[in-house]
Amino acid sequence: MTNKSYVMWNNKGGVGKSTITFHVASVYAEENPDRDVIVIDMCPQANVSMMLMGGGKEAEVKLQEFITLGTPKTVVGYITDSITRSGTSDLDKYITKLADVNQHVPDNLYLLSGDGNLELIAPLLSERADATPLSETDKPWIDIHTIIKELTKRQLTDRPCTYFIDTNPSFSVYTQIAILSGDYLLVPINADDSSIFAITGLFNLIWGTEKTHPVYGKYTFSSKVDAFGIDRPKIALLLGNRFTQQKGAAHAFKALSNEATKKMYEEYSKNPDRFIKTDVIPKTQSEFEDAYSVELRDFNSAGVVAANQGIPMSRMDRNKYEVYGEQIQVAKEQRDLCKQTIEELVSKL
Ligand SMILES: Nc1ncnc2c1ncn2[C@@H]1O[C@H](COP(=O)(O)OP(=O)(O)OP(=O)(O)O)[C@@H](O)[C@H]1O
Ligand SMILES: [Mg+2]
Repeated sequence: MTNKSYVMWNNKGGVGKSTITFHVASVYAEENPDRDVIVIDMCPQANVSMMLMGGGKEAEVKLQEFITLGTPKTVVGYITDSITRSGTSDLDKYITKLADVNQHVPDNLYLLSGDGNLELIAPLLSERADATPLSETDKPWIDIHTIIKELTKRQLTDRPCTYFIDTNPSFSVYTQIAILSGDYLLVPINADDSSIFAITGLFNLIWGTEKTHPVYGKYTFSSKVDAFGIDRPKIALLLGNRFTQQKGAAHAFKALSNEATKKMYEEYSKNPDRFIKTDVIPKTQSEFEDAYSVELRDFNSAGVVAANQGIPMSRMDRNKYEVYGEQIQVAKEQRDLCKQTIEELVSKL
C-alpha cells in the first residue's frame, strides 16, 4: 500500500469544502485503521482545523496556541521550515494527533493545522517562487509549489498515509500549492449559477484557457506547470452538495444541477485524461454522472452539531446536543441518513 492524497477545491466559496473534508476524513480514518489519515488545512480561515479540534471556544484557544508557538504547529510552521531548510524531519513538531484534543475522532486521524498567517506569508511565497534561478538546477517555482506535495509522500509511522487537503476558494499561491499536492481532485458544487460558472473557472485556472495570451500567457500557473512538467491532480468526483435553502422549487434545482453535470461532462468529453480512469468509460451524460458524481444530502441540525462540537456523523449517538446554550434535536433517522451519505462517498474513494 502506498500514500494517497485528495484535494478538495472549487473556485467558488461556501460550497462545503471544509465541512465535507471534516466528515470524509473522519469516516475514512475509521474505515481504514491500517492507514494514518492526515488533514492538511491550506485555508487561512482554518475552518476544518476548528471542527477537527472539537469546535467552539476550546478549539479556537488551541488553534491560537499552535499559531503563536515559536515554530507554529501549523502549515505555516511546516512551510517556512521547509523553505529555510531548518529541517522538517520531525513531523510531530507540526502535525497533531487529533484524538489528544478531540475525544470524538479516531486514533489514526491527524492534522496539519490551518493558520491565518498563511495569508501574510503568501506574498513572500510568491516572491520566492518567481525569483530568478541562480543556476540551471535552481528551480524556485517548483520548490515552492511542491512543498506540500513532497509532504504527502512522507509517512508518520510505518503505515501508509492518506492525505485530505482543504483549500481556500481563491487561486492564491497557497491554493496552487494545495492543488498540486493532490493525486485526486474532489470538486464540491451547489446547484446554483455561480457554481456552474465556477466549473469553467476551475478548468481555466488549473489547465489553462484554450487560447493563451501571447505576452502574459507564459506567466500563468498552467503554463508554468506545463513548462516544469509537474503533474496535476486527476478529477475523481463531483460532489453535489445539496442544501435545503437552495432547494426552493425542486424543478429549478434539478435543472441547475443537471446543467452543472452537463458542463463537467463536456469537459470530460474534450479531455478525459483530466479525470481518473473508471472501469467502464462513460458514453452519455447519465453514465458520466453515475461514474463521477455523488450527491450529498443536507445535514440540517446534525451538521450544525457536528461542526460546533467536532463530532463525525458516525459518532453522533444522542438525540439532543447543546449548542451555545440551546438544546438542538437531532433525530436518529436524520443522523443515520447523514452517516449513510458520508459512507457512500467514502466508499467511492
Ligand atoms: N450538506 C450540508 N448540509 C447542511 N449544511 C451544509 C452542508 N454543507 C455545508 N454546509 C454549511 O454551509 C456553510 C459553508 O460550508 P463550508 O464552510 O464547509 O464551505 P467551504 O466551501 O469550505 O467555504 P469557504 O469557501 O469559505 O472555505 C457552512 O455553514 C456549513 O455548515
Ligand atoms: Mg472552507
